[in-house]
Amino acid sequence: MTDCDFGKTDRKGVVPLSFPQNFLDELTARSDIVDVVGNYVQLTRRGTNLFGLCPFHSEKTGSFSVSPDKQIYYCFGCKKGGGVINFIMEEENLSFPDAVRFLAKRANMEVPEEEGDREAGRRRQRLLDLNRDAARFYHQMLQQPEGRAVQDYLDRRQIKKATAVNFGLGASLDRWDALITAMTHKGYTKAELLSAGLAVQNKNGGIYDKFRNRLMFPVIDVRGDVVAFGGRVLDKSEPKYMNSSETPVYSKRRELYALNLAKKSKRPNIILCEGNIDVVTLHQAGFDNAVASMGTALTQEQTRLLSRYTKELVLCYDNDNAGKIATERALQILNNSEFAVRVLQLPNRRMDDGTMAKQDADDFIKNFGSGAFERLLSGSENGIEFRLAQTAGKYDLTDDQQRLGYAEEVSALLAGLESPVERDIYTVRAAEAAKLTPEAMRLEVQRAFKRRLSKEKRARERRELNPTMELQPKVRAMHYTNVRSAMAEEGVLRLLLLDDSLFPAELPLREDEFSSPLLGKVFSLLWQQKEQGSAPRLTSLAGELSGEEMSHMTNLCQKPESVANGRQALTDYITVIRGEAEKRAGAGLVDPLLAVTEKFKDQKKSNGGKQHG
Ligand code: GTP
Ligand code: MN
Repeated sequence: MTDCDFGKTDRKGVVPLSFPQNFLDELTARSDIVDVVGNYVQLTRRGTNLFGLCPFHSEKTGSFSVSPDKQIYYCFGCKKGGGVINFIMEEENLSFPDAVRFLAKRANMEVPEEEGDREAGRRRQRLLDLNRDAARFYHQMLQQPEGRAVQDYLDRRQIKKATAVNFGLGASLDRWDALITAMTHKGYTKAELLSAGLAVQNKNGGIYDKFRNRLMFPVIDVRGDVVAFGGRVLDKSEPKYMNSSETPVYSKRRELYALNLAKKSKRPNIILCEGNIDVVTLHQAGFDNAVASMGTALTQEQTRLLSRYTKELVLCYDNDNAGKIATERALQILNNSEFAVRVLQLPNRRMDDGTMAKQDADDFIKNFGSGAFERLLSGSENGIEFRLAQTAGKYDLTDDQQRLGYAEEVSALLAGLESPVERDIYTVRAAEAAKLTPEAMRLEVQRAFKRRLSKEKRARERRELNPTMELQPKVRAMHYTNVRSAMAEEGVLRLLLLDDSLFPAELPLREDEFSSPLLGKVFSLLWQQKEQGSAPRLTSLAGELSGEEMSHMTNLCQKPESVANGRQALTDYITVIRGEAEKRAGAGLVDPLLAVTEKFKDQKKSNGGKQHG
């Protein structure tokens, strides 16, 4: 083991970004949503739809629905939805073209490739190649005299050679252009270096190395591609870490440092820690199941990624304030999830002068060894135990007044537990801690539980009383400015998707007559499909709409719409939309030129075009 292999070389196969409509039509026709989703989610039929546990958020009761008729999925919990391509994009963490390739392979179809698309795929592959070559360069520098400072730092932190090779650790040099020079020699352009986030541009247009004089941690995804870097300073200067910015091949929400290694671990769980160094030290000490999220709180996307590899998570954040906040946030994300979650609390360390000092996993292993860490790991508490201990720590439980405060706070916490058995077990524990009788504590928890239920009921009622809130898209940027018109616009889209033969041959509405830009855009896109001779389908818009837009569109398709009175309904919808558009025009909210032509048409109707003369 002298050198580190940074994954596969030059992956063949290039990815198109846009596909002919008839190809997408055939692909979606051959990729039945029930079959595809069924490979990931256990579905049970309830009426015309199928239901299961949502793969995109943590839940214990199934709010994830699949409609075989409409060929869409929609989760009533997290409100994600879309067609079969969206599902694969979300579930397999793929871009639109990659999801299309994935499904095409499954359906045994050949993917048509266009020159422009081939180019985009090639650019992406170039970035991955560049990252891999950069990682090799940094890694080689560890052996060079110029990389001495970083190697010394590794020695000081007791990181062994084999560990450095395993992680592909490296050295960025104390120069402005070491990487740029090496990579341009290999044929990479400045634009590519900038796009990969490895170089930065100055005011005069010149570029310099982003990472200098730092210990380099390549971030390698589960497929083995180097997608980003983290770089740590060698002293106490700031910022301590520089991490890659978001690039076409890297999204920090979707990656976890060292998951490429941890996914191969034989251990039954995955340990989440805060720092890259903690991860490296843990692996070196035999805990090859440690990962870290780089400079973000744990995200939903990361938990989904983790769920492919384990059913049990151990949170091992630093025992300072920031670490406790991170733990609390992670517990919220994992609340009522499929994961068994435990919290490993690193003890504070008593210093010689009697003060207590914070300790991270790396400090702990160095101070007490891996055996001690193994004992902590096997004894780590579950999430609720952690929260009870946290709360107890805030109160002086020998003081009567404070015991009351503790009982109150803890009962609110326990009232949040869904399982009655779990609630009771921890109620008794909490009572013991505060030296209260279990009965008294139970009463307190019951009261809190009732409060919670009625609060939830009130919120439900509020939503029902104020339906316009419910009608609004979840994402603020898409909010409807004219709910009356938007409801009619939604109706037009639903009808178009249900039965496009209801529509006249000519365009019945213009995009700008829609009050919602999103709905207008979707209308135009669907109309184009119709004009090209295919049945308008949401599924094939996966490449044109964002995930949020798609989710909103699938949501509105869930609402009932009767085709029986379709023709009348369509006329009514169009009348409403026109009427509202005219009001907007009157208020100067529509392009004045368009408004004039619109009025002109109307007057022509009523006055027989007299104003012509
Ligand atoms: P030490 O134990 O101090 O050597 O460092 P560590 O590797 O354990 O990291 P630490 O616990 O200090 O930080 C946790 C993570 O937060 C790091 O791995 C980084 O991804 C991120 N981070 C820390 N400091 C910074 C910073 O200054 N800027 C950015 N962008 N991220 C940081
Ligand atoms: Mn640390």
